[in-house]
Amino acid sequence: MDDIRGRVTKDGIRIYEDADFAGMREAGRIAAVILDDVGALVQPGVLTAELDDFIRTEVARHGAVSATIGYKGYQHASCISVNHVVCHGIPGAKKLVEGDILNIDVTVIVDGWFGDTSRMYAAGPINRKAERLIEVTHEGLMRGIEAVKPGNTFGDIGHAIQTLVEANRMSVVRDFCGHGLGRVFHAPPNVLHYGRAGAAAVLEEGMFFTIEPMVNLGRPETKVLADEWTAVTRDKSLSAQYEHSVGVTATGCEIFTLSPKGKFFRP
Ligand code: MF3
Ligand code: CO
Ligand code: CO
Repeated sequence: MDDIRGRVTKDGIRIYEDADFAGMREAGRIAAVILDDVGALVQPGVLTAELDDFIRTEVARHGAVSATIGYKGYQHASCISVNHVVCHGIPGAKKLVEGDILNIDVTVIVDGWFGDTSRMYAAGPINRKAERLIEVTHEGLMRGIEAVKPGNTFGDIGHAIQTLVEANRMSVVRDFCGHGLGRVFHAPPNVLHYGRAGAAAVLEEGMFFTIEPMVNLGRPETKVLADEWTAVTRDKSLSAQYEHSVGVTATGCEIFTLSPKGKFFRP
């Protein structure tokens, strides 16, 4: 079994080998291309179920497998989280209207490797507050990624994100976090999007994980609806999220889920 090569740190974090980066690169690329391509469909009048149908078809067309269909009973190829939905929005009969902002989150499996990424989209023109929220959330993710290098800690990542978000008088969601991934969807550690510099596990070359901050215009608290998936802001304020899958290199990190067309931010 080649998925039990290598070692695991005292915090339970798997250290992958150089050759494993190629697998993550391909899984991440396919997830990113699908998010690039779904962007053309996002407009007022479209149902979130139609976006999910497209994604399901594209996953198969790329020879990948959806990681979310069948995951803990989830039935869809994406999560689509509109406006005050923080994450895990279920695609369905919801019709987008002008001014809606939405996160689309896709995870694919390619040759056993998981590529997990999400971005924000807009249905037509959006207001300035929504625009700012999206900018700050993207910038928060990028600040977190800049903190990824051997010797830094997971606390440094969270601290970088929290500092940027709170300087912009927005809040970081505490109830959901990033995660290790690789040959599995969700593995240690929990990657918090807030925290103290120098806290938590030390980053080592060969760690693979996501960073996926959720940022609210209002308060950070969330609740999960009766469908047991949809997480919303308690105060109904707008929420945004961006997610990349990354691998720690000798000098920093490789982003596996970069958009080949450079469309990650506001496609
Ligand atoms: N892709 C999500 C993440 O970033 C997980 C979705 S699980 C699902 O970890 F079942 F809701 F799809
Ligand atoms: Co994730
Ligand atoms: Co995701």
